[in-house]
Amino acid sequence: MSFLMIEPAPPRLNRSELAVPGSQPQLFEKAAKSAADVIFLDLEDAVAPDEKAQARKNIIEAIGDVDWGRKSLSVRINGLDTHYMYRDVVDVLEQASERLDLIMIPKVGTASDVYAIDMLCTQIETAKGRKKRVGFEMIIETALGMQNVHEIAAASKRNESLHFGVADYAASTKARTTSIGGANADYAVLTEPLADGSRQTHWGDMWHYAISRMVVAARANGLRPVDGPFGNFSDSEAFRAAGLRAAVLGCEGKWAIHPSQVVLANEVMSPSEADVTRAKRILVAMDEAAKAGKGAVSLDGRLIDYASVRQAEVLVQKAAQIANQ
Ligand code: GLV
Ligand code: MG
Repeated sequence: MSFLMIEPAPPRLNRSELAVPGSQPQLFEKAAKSAADVIFLDLEDAVAPDEKAQARKNIIEAIGDVDWGRKSLSVRINGLDTHYMYRDVVDVLEQASERLDLIMIPKVGTASDVYAIDMLCTQIETAKGRKKRVGFEMIIETALGMQNVHEIAAASKRNESLHFGVADYAASTKARTTSIGGANADYAVLTEPLADGSRQTHWGDMWHYAISRMVVAARANGLRPVDGPFGNFSDSEAFRAAGLRAAVLGCEGKWAIHPSQVVLANEVMSPSEADVTRAKRILVAMDEAAKAGKGAVSLDGRLIDYASVRQAEVLVQKAAQIANQ
């Protein structure tokens, strides 16, 4: 380990993150009763310009009035390139109750973007005597944001998580696709002709690099990496596949842009029983090995050592966090 210790963000279950448009208050109660770990009330892209002011009012009222249970509650503000953002922060933090946990910042491009919003939040919280300091969720969804993802991740003590905003990221990088996440037939490898002359097409994951890069920046700064939206809400199989890919790479959660995706996200972002059982067996086997003065042993015909202990602990700790929810 490096001598530099990574301070983890406050622990918070973040398997599913349900997006709810601030302009549709009739959806708030249902969202509050869902199985989502985190809910973000949206002021940004799900809200038309003419509805922004009313959406702000809806959200401010609902933060205090709705029973959100033990969920984490966030508000997605508008981007720093708009004239809505300052009022989103000022009105929400001045008027909403302290039930609010997080502010989600879209299209973060530089560490200074985070600095500016941190400064604004700090002033408002101090002026209003708010006791609870809001945390930041940041969406990495532009080429600039991805270029600066490490500085962004380290930009504020409020930072809790990085989210991959696949739709805006595709637009920003001018990727040739109009779908929100998932696989793309054009991103494939064609094999050389096989013995019988036939060729196979193997689909690849065009988002692999972006998600991996974001995961590294998040983890190196103690933040939670969270995979973003999957637009085709009638394809639960493909959602599951995308979520599992993200989980395997280290993401802790995935967005749900439709209530039906909440349970799927919780499922793919929870370690399976088989994974946890094996992880516990690794811990027991390594404990016995240590007592016998050994550093590496075999379990089920595979080598395990102290790195296996650290891997197993990740799964066991996650299972315990879910069980304590
Ligand atoms: C989310 O905000 C996205 O652009 O995918
Ligand atoms: Mg976006």
